[in-house]
Amino acid sequence: MRLVIMGPPGAGKGTQATRLASRLGIPHLSSGELLRDAVAAGSEPGTLVGEIMARGELVPDDIVKRIVAERATAADASDGFILDGFPRNIEQAEALDRAFATRGVELDAVLRIDVDESVLVDRVTERADRARTAGEPVRSDDTPEVLRERIRAYRRETAPLLDLYTARDLLETVDGSRSIDEVTAQLVDAVTARNRAR
Ligand code: AP5
Ligand code: MG
Repeated sequence: MRLVIMGPPGAGKGTQATRLASRLGIPHLSSGELLRDAVAAGSEPGTLVGEIMARGELVPDDIVKRIVAERATAADASDGFILDGFPRNIEQAEALDRAFATRGVELDAVLRIDVDESVLVDRVTERADRARTAGEPVRSDDTPEVLRERIRAYRRETAPLLDLYTARDLLETVDGSRSIDEVTAQLVDAVTARNRAR
């Protein structure tokens, strides 16, 4: 299956995409992880991309599209994947449509994790605290100030895609305020129903 998972920063996209990917036997493609890896490896105009991410703004489309396309065309993604963090604006959604049309494949569903913005600060603050305690690297954008900018970018650039995918009857919305297991269960139900209808 070819799936997209959407939701504001801290909604649980990465957590849930990892679980779904292992259940469905498809790779989890996170644009944020791919960008963080590229910055860490110094393979991108590292400081430029790293600085943009640390401000909570969107990285330029041409860079993200290239990095995601490289990963999405790898052999293990030929039968499907779950895209997390991409597309993030109309330009990227159109690029994804064009890539699918070229390959003669279709998007099966867009999974939206709906969660009240008030819980997001606590979630990313907790993640940062956990990483600090474990002696692991803390994401440069996991601060309340940068989170606010990420939420603004989500509202401005990404949320409009929800209407687009609703109009195409691809959107499945789950309640992201429930426990991690409960959210997974809702997503599995949604994906199973879509799979049956294929
Ligand atoms: P990206 O890495 O995509 O980050 P994000 O969208 O800001 O979201 P997060 O990864 O912080 O949250 P998540 O929804 O994955 O939640 P998670 O599962 O981690 O993007 C980072 C940056 O890269 C962007 O700002 C931009 O600069 C750039 N970028 C990426 N893609 C781009 C693109 N396409 N175009 C341009 N720029 C791009 O969960 C969060 C925390 O909550 C965890 O601690 C988790 O344990 C906890 N949690 C999860 N679910 C629950 C639950 N149900 N109950 C309680 N706690 C929960
Ligand atoms: Mg994530």
